Amino acid sequence: MEELRRLFKEIKLQQLSSGEVFSFEVPEDREQVLTEIEDHEPIFLRHIQPVDHVITFSEDTDDLEELVDIVRDARKVFEGKRTAVHLRRVENSPFPYSAADTKAVVEAILIDIGSELSLQQPEQILSLYASKDSLLIGWGTPRELLSDWPGGAVRFQREEGQISRAKFKLLEAERTFGINLAEHKRALDIGAAPGGWTSLLLDRGLDVTAIDPAELHPSLVSNRRLTYLKKNASEVKFSPNSFDLIVCDMSWSPMQMGKLVLDLSQALSSGGDAIVTIKLMHRKPLQTIRDVMQKLQEVFIIRKAKQLFHNRDEITLLLEKR
Ligand SMILES: C[S@@+](CC[C@H](N)C(=O)[O-])C[C@H]1O[C@@H](n2cnc3c(N)ncnc32)[C@H](O)[C@@H]1O
Repeated sequence: MEELRRLFKEIKLQQLSSGEVFSFEVPEDREQVLTEIEDHEPIFLRHIQPVDHVITFSEDTDDLEELVDIVRDARKVFEGKRTAVHLRRVENSPFPYSAADTKAVVEAILIDIGSELSLQQPEQILSLYASKDSLLIGWGTPRELLSDWPGGAVRFQREEGQISRAKFKLLEAERTFGINLAEHKRALDIGAAPGGWTSLLLDRGLDVTAIDPAELHPSLVSNRRLTYLKKNASEVKFSPNSFDLIVCDMSWSPMQMGKLVLDLSQALSSGGDAIVTIKLMHRKPLQTIRDVMQKLQEVFIIRKAKQLFHNRDEITLLLEKR
């Protein structure tokens, strides 16, 4: 909310679901808002849904009929486009229809008006949010909505033998930041144990140097592409250009993490990438983020900064060495 307040001076905010979802109104028009958000993407905003229509609940079938009419009237938006339908609801919404029923009705209309249903790679998303008193209806491209997942909640399948849930953070960073880890050759993983990130980097074909005083998972240590230094990262040094990727997920004091990454960045080739998490331990997260970013900018260009769905009290940065 604070980030949006800084972008839109006359914003009016209303909480819809505590700590999760809010609505906002601004005098700017739809395109201006979407462009402004795209140009200055807020760190803590994972998803937005334009509200093109509102149906105030009457708790009878009229609600669905009204929704059907709205979708039919928006034919031009969906015709010839791959479309996904997302429905979310606050816990105690009186909207009486299940997600499956609502989607079945809407999807039939979409097909009827010449749209193709596609959950995986939609060009348009019809997004529905059932609040306590109304159904909020909007649409946009995945880029406008900031995500092609409902509410920006990216889900990954847990694999058998998966070492840690932390792996999901790196998977999500790869997807959300649009990077291809497999394009790198040699990675340094700082604070690697138990080894979720290291295992993903090995899966992607990279040679990995993992540093952590804690134990790596036994399934990793025999991997010939892995070098494991069971040490504190402040004790190690590498020659220049040893790596084209540094990752760091240390859950540590943000400023200390920044200093450590800067020290080790001399081993990263120019133009190399770094993916780091910043733990938000203090009361003023925006100030902490600003301070750490300022420090990292001595050596890096900040490409992206986002609180990913799999981040808890932290955010993830994508950096490029100058
Ligand atoms: C959140 S865990 C990392 C999880 C890991 N990314 C994964 O996917 O399994 C943080 C790790 O950072 C390590 N760590 C903290 N401070 C460190 C330091 N100064 N040097 C090296 N490792 C450190 C901790 O021992 C811990 O294993």
